[in-house]
Amino acid sequence: GDDLVVLGIETSCDDTAAAVVRSNGEILSQVVSSQADLLAQYGGVAPKMAEEAHAKVIDKVVQDALDKAKIAETDLSAVAVTIGPGLSLCLRVGVQKARNLAGRFTKPIVGVHHMEAHALVARLVKQELEFPFLVLLISGGHNLLILARDLGQYVQLGTAIDDAIGEAYDKTAKWLGLDMRRSGGPAIEELAREVQTPMKQHKDCNFSYAGLKTQVRLAIESKKINVEIPLSFSSVEDRCSRADIAASFQRVAVLHLEERCERAIDWAMNIEPSIKHLVVSGGVASNQYVRARLDEVVKRKSLQLVCPPPSLCTDNGVMVAWTGIEHFRMGRFDPPPPADEPEDVV
Ligand code: KG4
Ligand code: ZN
Repeated sequence: GDDLVVLGIETSCDDTAAAVVRSNGEILSQVVSSQADLLAQYGGVAPKMAEEAHAKVIDKVVQDALDKAKIAETDLSAVAVTIGPGLSLCLRVGVQKARNLAGRFTKPIVGVHHMEAHALVARLVKQELEFPFLVLLISGGHNLLILARDLGQYVQLGTAIDDAIGEAYDKTAKWLGLDMRRSGGPAIEELAREVQTPMKQHKDCNFSYAGLKTQVRLAIESKKINVEIPLSFSSVEDRCSRADIAASFQRVAVLHLEERCERAIDWAMNIEPSIKHLVVSGGVASNQYVRARLDEVVKRKSLQLVCPPPSLCTDNGVMVAWTGIEHFRMGRFDPPPPADEPEDVV
């Protein structure tokens, strides 16, 4: 039947995540171990360090996910794991864990594409979301507009020709001297609420955030802001200047998304006139300003916005488990690996 229980494992970037999900959409458990402290300390992801951090917690994260779900390995229908895109050293930690577990308990494996998982988790959140639909994926490394025609049938309408929006958020936050213990996005969102200012124009369905990053740099230099002083200790004037830059950045960054989505909706409607939804997912989709502005865009086009809750927008195991279920249902999976597979085979 269709009563499946799948474990999902995600280690493509800086979060080690696992979750157990049922095919009726029930999330039985969700565990994330974040490397935020490492990130703040070193100002970015160093692959070797990230790999070690994943390796250190992977067993515990997976065990916690199974325990919280009250599911034994033998009850699983399959194990789903992110196989890319991402840092290969990091991906290997998750894939090895998945193969090891699947081999020991003779479970099929579903290899999951990270970006497909970000997109498809919207169908867990909103069960009546049918193909075809339009997807905007916005994260630290990706900026994609995709027409999802069916499971596994994706037409790329636009992508980042240089930096993705999350990268611009992170650098803006860093250069403004904001608290980096969380990622840059939330810090900018918070500071930007203090002011609002104008914007500018572009033309196809691709994205470019490198120029905006440079403008932020220049603005910080020209205003002579001393970013060495933490925001909480800065003068009112200095704080206003920083808020002003954060807000100007966010306005332009999101306006760029709005314009592209508007055009992509027109393009998508030409290919698939029946689309009714724009799915927005990826870490940046947890931003309230982004959601509000894109909601206005879809309303003007008589579509509906589907935006997963923040915990399912940022990297997580649920989206991997769910995408595993979608593929498993259609017979797309690999047979169990041998039980005695050597550790270094992947
Ligand atoms: O999807 P994700 O967790 O990891 C990648 O696959 O990249 O996205 C991480 C990105 C980071 O750039 C982070 O700054 C951004 O999502 N982000 C935000 C917010 N929360 C996370 N950007 C803007 N506003 C937010 N509230
Ligand atoms: Zn991601």
